[in-house]
Amino acid sequence: MLQQLEKLHAQCFPHKPWCANDFDDLKKSGCDIIASQNGFIIYRVVADEAEIITIGVAPAARRGGIAAAMIEIAAADAKKRGAKKMFLEVARDNAAAIALYSRAGFSEIGVRPKYYDGIDAILMQRQL
Ligand SMILES: CC(C)(COP(=O)(O)OP(=O)(O)OC[C@H]1O[C@@H](n2cnc3c(N)ncnc32)[C@H](O)[C@@H]1OP(=O)(O)O)[C@@H](O)C(=O)NCCC(=O)NCCS
Repeated sequence: MLQQLEKLHAQCFPHKPWCANDFDDLKKSGCDIIASQNGFIIYRVVADEAEIITIGVAPAARRGGIAAAMIEIAAADAKKRGAKKMFLEVARDNAAAIALYSRAGFSEIGVRPKYYDGIDAILMQRQL
């Protein structure tokens, strides 16, 4: 399963692919991973806060609602476990992801200047 996830991640993030060990380490550190053949979301719930670590959908399966559905599953799980807010960081030049998160109810609450190789990271939050 982790090797399949590794391939999917490389399709979504060709410039910074993660290896199977990276996913294993995330699981060991308390992250949850929801993955299917075409998509994955990794998130973490700590006390009353949740964070989306990353999300990806295979290029051929995009714009079919998979990412939006995975966010709702993660948000519902986090809420059930006591989280009141969900956070994430996204690169300012990632228009698709920003549109996805905005549509899912996230709004900008801060900026980390030049966080990703010179590109600003936008910090977004949603109530659960
Ligand atoms: C961002 C990503 C996860 C979206 O996955 P997806 O399954 O295609 O998204 P959805 O189909 O659930 O889209 C839901 C809504 O988000 C918005 N959206 C998603 N992709 C978009 C795009 N390329 N351009 C504009 N809006 C987009 C739309 O409002 C869309 O609703 P609509 O299709 O009814 O208009 C996918 O493009 C991806 O894997 N990108 C590479 C990895 C990445 O950047 N991850 C995010 C890191 S922070």
